[in-house]
Amino acid sequence: MSATDLHHQPTDAPPQRDKHTHAMAHNAEPHSDPHAAYYAARASEYDVSVGYGTPLVERHLASLQARLQANLKGHDALELACGTGYWTHVAAATARSILATDRDAASLALAQARMASSDHVRCQHADAYSLDGVSGPFSAAFALFWWSHMPKSKIPAFLSTLHSKLAPGAQVVFADQLPYEWRGNRHFDDEGNLLEERALLDGTRFEIVKNFPTEAELAGLLAGTVDDLVYSTGAEGRWWMISYRTASCA
Ligand SMILES: C[S@@+](CC[C@H](N)C(=O)[O-])C[C@H]1O[C@@H](n2cnc3c(N)ncnc32)[C@H](O)[C@@H]1O
Repeated sequence: MSATDLHHQPTDAPPQRDKHTHAMAHNAEPHSDPHAAYYAARASEYDVSVGYGTPLVERHLASLQARLQANLKGHDALELACGTGYWTHVAAATARSILATDRDAASLALAQARMASSDHVRCQHADAYSLDGVSGPFSAAFALFWWSHMPKSKIPAFLSTLHSKLAPGAQVVFADQLPYEWRGNRHFDDEGNLLEERALLDGTRFEIVKNFPTEAELAGLLAGTVDDLVYSTGAEGRWWMISYRTASCA
């Protein structure tokens, strides 16, 4: 596997260096945003590249699946950055309804196909930062393996936009990867975001934001605005998860 978020495969090969050496994300028209170009190009190979459905990855994700389902039980949930719908499908087992959103049309089409027989799930195009066209209020929200891709400067506005779509006391869940070893190129930008070079199966390379927030950083971002914040990690050291409730009305 040359294209991976390394969700669950920390020893994956780094990007190939001998192919498409000029095909960095900035060249991948029509997307001007490297992250958008990367996920648009990667949609069809995404599930295989992260190992969804394989015994090893399913074992690593089993307790995260269970926690997500417990948190969303009976809720009308908004999902951000749903990708191909893997976590939509997991959450749909207990949520009352889900509006699954993503900015990438190709990923969203795959999510729609995956959830076609689930009447309580809808898929809709939406940018996670603006949530334009998403009405609410929802009693819950969740986003898996999305947080790491947010530049640090965008997170406060992202949170306040998200919370504006939720009912008071709504349940929120985020989960993402813990730090892993990387043998490809990485460097920090001026605001301290880690930039990581990724390659698709055809060798096309992209550079994307891949941050690893600490428990203290997450708590600092949410301090004073949410209740019942809980941070946990998977036993295998692959992922972190936070759950909290948005502030209740006084
Ligand atoms: C690492 S994938 C995670 C997908 C899915 N949640 C999962 O864990 O399988 C990141 C997703 O974020 C989406 N994405 C990137 N930027 C976005 C944005 N600004 N708004 C909404 N989705 C975005 C990508 O299209 C991609 O589907």
